[in-house]
Amino acid sequence: MAITKRYSMTIVSVLVILASLYFIPCDALRRHHKHKINTIYQFGDSLSDTGNLIHEKPTEANLPIAHYPYGETFFRKPTGRSCDGRLIIDYLALALGLPLLNPYLAKNASFKSGVNFAVSGATALNASVLSDNGLLEFYTNSSLDVQLEWFKSHLQSLASKRLDNALFIVGEIGGNDYSFASILGKTLKEITELVPQVILKTKEIVGKLIEQGATRVIVPGIFPIGCTPSDLTQSINNGDDKSAYDEYGCLIAGNKIADYHNVLLQQALAELRATYLHAVILYADYYTSFFNLIKNADRLGFEKVNVLKACCGTGGAYNFDSLQFCGTEGIPFNVCSNPNVRVSWDGIHLTQKAYSLIAKSLIRDLFPKLM
Ligand SMILES: *[C@@H]1O[C@H](CO)[C@@H](O)[C@H](O)[C@H]1NC(C)=O
Ligand SMILES: *[C@@H]1O[C@H](CO)[C@@H](O)[C@H](O)[C@H]1NC(C)=O
Ligand SMILES: *[C@@H]1O[C@H](CO)[C@@H](O)[C@H](O)[C@H]1NC(C)=O
Repeated sequence: MAITKRYSMTIVSVLVILASLYFIPCDALRRHHKHKINTIYQFGDSLSDTGNLIHEKPTEANLPIAHYPYGETFFRKPTGRSCDGRLIIDYLALALGLPLLNPYLAKNASFKSGVNFAVSGATALNASVLSDNGLLEFYTNSSLDVQLEWFKSHLQSLASKRLDNALFIVGEIGGNDYSFASILGKTLKEITELVPQVILKTKEIVGKLIEQGATRVIVPGIFPIGCTPSDLTQSINNGDDKSAYDEYGCLIAGNKIADYHNVLLQQALAELRATYLHAVILYADYYTSFFNLIKNADRLGFEKVNVLKACCGTGGAYNFDSLQFCGTEGIPFNVCSNPNVRVSWDGIHLTQKAYSLIAKSLIRDLFPKLM
């Protein structure tokens, strides 16, 4: 009897141990397993805008992105994307099994799977700070501060304020702050002095989003602006000095600014991670991804001789002229026969092909850390 009792107790304890082996690790796993991403919130500028600027400025007849050949490769019509087809954000949404993000300013759009707050021409710094620095907004006043306010009112409209299932992407942002300063004739030193302000603003916005409940944030750095046809053309107009270029034909000064921005941004993100231990904050290395397209042009199917030339534009060594921009009505411009073999679409923005390859590397490198 005693033996039988001990025996059955042993069986019970074995069962209990087996049960705990089965349940405890499973429960632990579940606790560490993040919620599935079913929503994306995007903030930024024309690298991510899927239509906000054309909705914000519907009467601006001369907005190039509202015209053909924008959209010619994929959507077969202009959608307000600064591209011949899809953007990085489109590929990220597809990779998560979500529909393409609608722009916040589109009337009656569905925001079931997220919202795109990015506006072409948007700056990191707001209009009053730009003005304090002797700068101004060219296309829109919808800087990061404005986009954050849009997000807050969107969140108010939601039944559930929980954001555990959401992915936030803040940027690329800041490229316009520097490019407007350059267009307005600011010196390299003055542009460099803007960088810490741009980073501080970006950091502030990411922090505020986390305070609102964001738990997963991707913050992309900026592209090597010294490799863009617009920057290269502007520099040629300022005098052709061979020592200004690197081995790929990119402008060293432009890339130094981008590099400085990206280094400060990564420091800011490290500080944010130390403050918000529960959040996943990832840096997306747009700079290296872009440079890889230039370095591996042949292997990736780009025409090496045209790797720094815009597909859509007018004349010069880089098929670019800011006064005869791609898509401008009533002005002749060239469009290359196959955008898939070009990196630059219009001299500032990239082709769908380039964006798709950059997205692929982001999905490979960052998505495992989000799941
Ligand atoms: C938006 O939706 C409302 C109500 O469903 C409808 O009356 C209106 O015509 C729609 N507007 C557009 C631009 O589709
Ligand atoms: C603009 O940005 C500055 C610096 O972050 C901030 O102090 C100011 O409140 C902002 N203005 C608006 C209108 O958001
Ligand atoms: C920004 O706002 C100011 C003041 O409302 C306005 O005068 C200006 O035209 C706006 N700029 C753009 C690019 O929309």
